[in-house]
Amino acid sequence: MKNVLVVGSTGQIGSELTMALRERYGNAHIIAGYIPGCEPKGELADSGPAAIVDVTDGTTIAETVSRYHIDTIYNLAALLSVVAEAKPRMAWRVGIDGLWNILEVAHEQGCAVFTPSSIGSFGIETPHDHTPQDTIQRPRTIYGVSKVTTELLSEWFHHKYGVDTRSVRFPGIISYVTPPGGGTTDYAVDIFYSAVRGEKFICPIKAGTRMDMMYMPDALRAAIELMEAAPERLKHHNGFNVAAMSFDPETIYNEIRKHIPEFEMTYDVDPLKESIAESWPDLMDDTCAREEWGWRHEYDLPRMTADMLEKLKARMA
Ligand code: SER
Repeated sequence: MKNVLVVGSTGQIGSELTMALRERYGNAHIIAGYIPGCEPKGELADSGPAAIVDVTDGTTIAETVSRYHIDTIYNLAALLSVVAEAKPRMAWRVGIDGLWNILEVAHEQGCAVFTPSSIGSFGIETPHDHTPQDTIQRPRTIYGVSKVTTELLSEWFHHKYGVDTRSVRFPGIISYVTPPGGGTTDYAVDIFYSAVRGEKFICPIKAGTRMDMMYMPDALRAAIELMEAAPERLKHHNGFNVAAMSFDPETIYNEIRKHIPEFEMTYDVDPLKESIAESWPDLMDDTCAREEWGWRHEYDLPRMTADMLEKLKARMA
């Protein structure tokens, strides 16, 4: 039986991944790790166990892993790209010093570890169209530098100590449960909140700037299916490209207007967000994930938009 620790269980991905894992493996087997001030609430709090796990304090990880006989850790602790530029030292402490603490405990206590990488691990010199699995990774954001390091450090623990580390490069994740905070791709979530509230959306990204995006149900499946994949099938372990859709602000705006024709959008471009967005892929090539562990996305832009609007309307009613 699996016993799983989700580190960062109250964040955008963690809050939904914890519930998806509870549904799959049983509530009592999934521990929601959180830091003080970000306690689980509602269904997340009521449906299963929780523990304080601060990645910057290795003893909290070691104690929880030992107490609950954890065999798999999903490490979702990170600062997103825009906030990381403002707090680079903290981004490194959480993303890299924190990852080191997780990997050390995983080595000592025999856990598999999933730590997401991102489209942010690429930079301006990377081929933007059909970005290959193995290519130039020279990001200029601290977020990107920490994600490349995440991939390399995870690989190193795998080769040096045999720790079963695996990860995908997530696109921008679109979801309606917990909002993201401080990312470059957040606009693709915020636009839905404006549309449902009947407000005009002010877009911080230029028309024509495309980025990879993915709907949360696909992102959750990617994480779970990669961790369940037969190890002998994997040629890569960390940093699998996974793609689902790619669009610019005009394209998603027009898709939402098919459902809400009166919806309005204007632009007030944020230079930092725009420069980050322009350095990221337009669309990643995810052939390796498809061949090595059977990755398939289910949501394209029209299907995601219809579902997002329906679910968000119901939540905000
Ligand atoms: N969503 C992240 C960000 O925008 C990218 O992985 O920072």
